[in-house]
Amino acid sequence: MSDTILKISNVSKSFGGVKVLENVTFEVEKGNRHALIGPNGAGKTTLFNVISGIHEPDEGRVFFEENDLTQFPSRKRIEKGLSRSFQNIRLMPHLSVLENVMLGQYSRFGIADLLKPLNFSIESTGKIEATETLKRFRIDLYEGRTVSSLPYGVRKKIEVVRALMAKPRLLMLDEPAAGLNTEETDELRKFLNEVSDSGITLLLVDHDMPFVNSLCQQVSVMNFGQLIYNGNVPGLRKDKKVLDAYLGSDD
Ligand SMILES: Nc1ncnc2c1ncn2[C@@H]1O[C@H](COP(=O)(O)OP(=O)(O)OP(=O)(O)O)[C@@H](O)[C@H]1O
Ligand SMILES: [Mg+2]
Repeated sequence: MSDTILKISNVSKSFGGVKVLENVTFEVEKGNRHALIGPNGAGKTTLFNVISGIHEPDEGRVFFEENDLTQFPSRKRIEKGLSRSFQNIRLMPHLSVLENVMLGQYSRFGIADLLKPLNFSIESTGKIEATETLKRFRIDLYEGRTVSSLPYGVRKKIEVVRALMAKPRLLMLDEPAAGLNTEETDELRKFLNEVSDSGITLLLVDHDMPFVNSLCQQVSVMNFGQLIYNGNVPGLRKDKKVLDAYLGSDD
């Protein structure tokens, strides 16, 4: 599996007797921008939670590079190179942008070390690196601002930068374009293309089809906990199951 970075194998998960994931199997190719789409409640976030170690699957396995991660705690998966953002923004609203971004380094530097007031104030390796990353993605303008004072679009971008601070090889994003206007979505697409060009594989969930179509090469579609399509973007519109379940015939 040299070209495969992530392999989801026969994953099933139930909550209180309700099957939310049913035998889900697919692979993400190294270097790809891969989308996971489907109607509300299809199980996309639950699958992200299984991949990132928040939920243990009832059955099935998750392989990342050469490792079987199924039993690994979340922190260990981040250390191994798998990082994510959440559907609802999870930044610390009263900390600055720089401090929030530096918190994304905890898997590498340790939380105790990072939270030393000195490390937020002096030019530590982590701080220099965080500043450089903010600059690279053109959000250094906001570096010292409190997160709660910033527009939603900027906060979404900061969340992605924070996830990048763990130096992942696979970055998972749960609805990064949700709530963004057209201009912010265009900016996010450009930004994620740059992330992808730097060699990081992307797996993202989103409902914004123009965004998915213009960014991703590969798509997996879920419906009622089952995978109903796995293939390229153009093929989506020719697939009857996908049209019936999600896109609609005139979408
Ligand atoms: N911790 C939980 N306990 C019980 N049920 C849950 C839990 N997490 C998710 N579910 C249920 O699992 C189903 C799938 O939810 P999930 O959040 O994975 O969907 P989704 O595809 O991400 O939807 P959306 O597009 O709305 O974000 C839903 O019916 C949801 O209510
Ligand atoms: Mg979701």
